[in-house]
Amino acid sequence: MDKFVITGGAALRGEIPTNGSKNSALPALAAGLLTDEAVTLHRVPRVRDIRTMERLLVDIGTTVDVEGETVRLRTERILSPEAPYELVKTMRASSLVLGPLVARSGRARVSLPGGCAIGARPINLHIFGLEQLGATINQAHGYIEAVAPDGLRGAVVHFDRITVTGTEDLMMAAVLARGETVLRNAAREPEVVDLADLLIKMGANIEGAGTSTIRIQGVERLHGAEHTIIADRIEAGTFLVAGAITGGDLTVTRCNPEHVGALVSKLQQCGVEVTQPDATSLRVRGTGRLRSVDMTTEEYPGFATDLQAQYMALMTQAEGIAIIVETIFENRFMHAQELARMGANIRLDGKQAIVAGPHALTGAGVIASDLRASASLVLGALVAKGETVIDRVYHIDRGYEKIETKLAGVGAKIRRVV
Ligand code: EPZ
Repeated sequence: MDKFVITGGAALRGEIPTNGSKNSALPALAAGLLTDEAVTLHRVPRVRDIRTMERLLVDIGTTVDVEGETVRLRTERILSPEAPYELVKTMRASSLVLGPLVARSGRARVSLPGGCAIGARPINLHIFGLEQLGATINQAHGYIEAVAPDGLRGAVVHFDRITVTGTEDLMMAAVLARGETVLRNAAREPEVVDLADLLIKMGANIEGAGTSTIRIQGVERLHGAEHTIIADRIEAGTFLVAGAITGGDLTVTRCNPEHVGALVSKLQQCGVEVTQPDATSLRVRGTGRLRSVDMTTEEYPGFATDLQAQYMALMTQAEGIAIIVETIFENRFMHAQELARMGANIRLDGKQAIVAGPHALTGAGVIASDLRASASLVLGALVAKGETVIDRVYHIDRGYEKIETKLAGVGAKIRRVV
């Protein structure tokens, strides 16, 4: 199992590029199932979750050609409308094939994802939405079987709570349904908008993506398209925190500043200097003094839950008390104990984490538990005195492409030990 060995203390300086968004590329890959024509996606990050989704599509019947960051998909026919447990247990986003499979072939058999490190993460809202669109759902042996022999019909789907992949799954189910579908209380994340942009290029009729009400007029069929995936706002945000926590002078390039607005505002409240040199870059400079500022995670455009762990690492170095409230997932503080092993002063109380600082961190042996928790351990290690060894970095490889190479390129003392 790969490890990272990091020696802290270097202020990061220079330019660090952002890849395409994992969480936008995953639904975009699934959207390829909706047509028998070729779909070409550019700027697809070569991370573990993407390779898992590509494997799943091949099992379903898609021809997948990868050339660098370009992926060409062609699903002339659905051979096996299934997402097996072996794959789903490693990546819950596999449930994104549910909607497209039912829309394209009238049936789907998808393993229930099972538990996840950060919370129960059921997909009951995906199922509810498909039933609203006329699918019949059976659950047995850990699988969901959805059938719609006469196709899906448009309906109003009001989500009990905001779900990103639930919105994406249902949008893909609705594009070929008969009549109009209205998704209410829909997710407004940029990844939802990017998926809608791709579907519209494929011939779908969608209005309101990016707002909480999305209207979809079903069409007979979709055709092929070419699309470039948006920048990964969570990777960009992670790098901004890296520049802030090391007190460096770091420019994050190839990003979309608008998509990290909540983080930028919070960093500025903490006393970090953040400027925008051009339309696709953000420059972060440590000012030597970090103030503790409370933060509550919210659905977009609020502060992203996927940046909560990174922000917690920063608050360990800030002056004062920061109260961090995690409202999206029920168990997303596992990084706290590992940061505490490095010397951080963090008290957990239900949905709240109380971080007192500044507390100097010292290098230690720590274990990654999930994708974004791993990122926060890297951030802590970058500022810790001495050497940190992070085990199980396969978690970080799920969502960050060559993060150690990128960070070393701006001065971090980090190496991967196989
Ligand atoms: C997406 O997960 C992201 N993954 C997550 O990123 C991200 O943390 C999350 O949205 C929130 O922003 C992808 O896009 C592939 P949700 P998703 O459905 O869609 C509950 C990362 O680090 N819920 O918006 O699975 C759920 O338990 C990953 O890249 C139900 O109760 O999240 C959670 O508490 C981690 N029933 C809340 O809603 C459902 O049917 C939000 O979940 C669906 C969700």
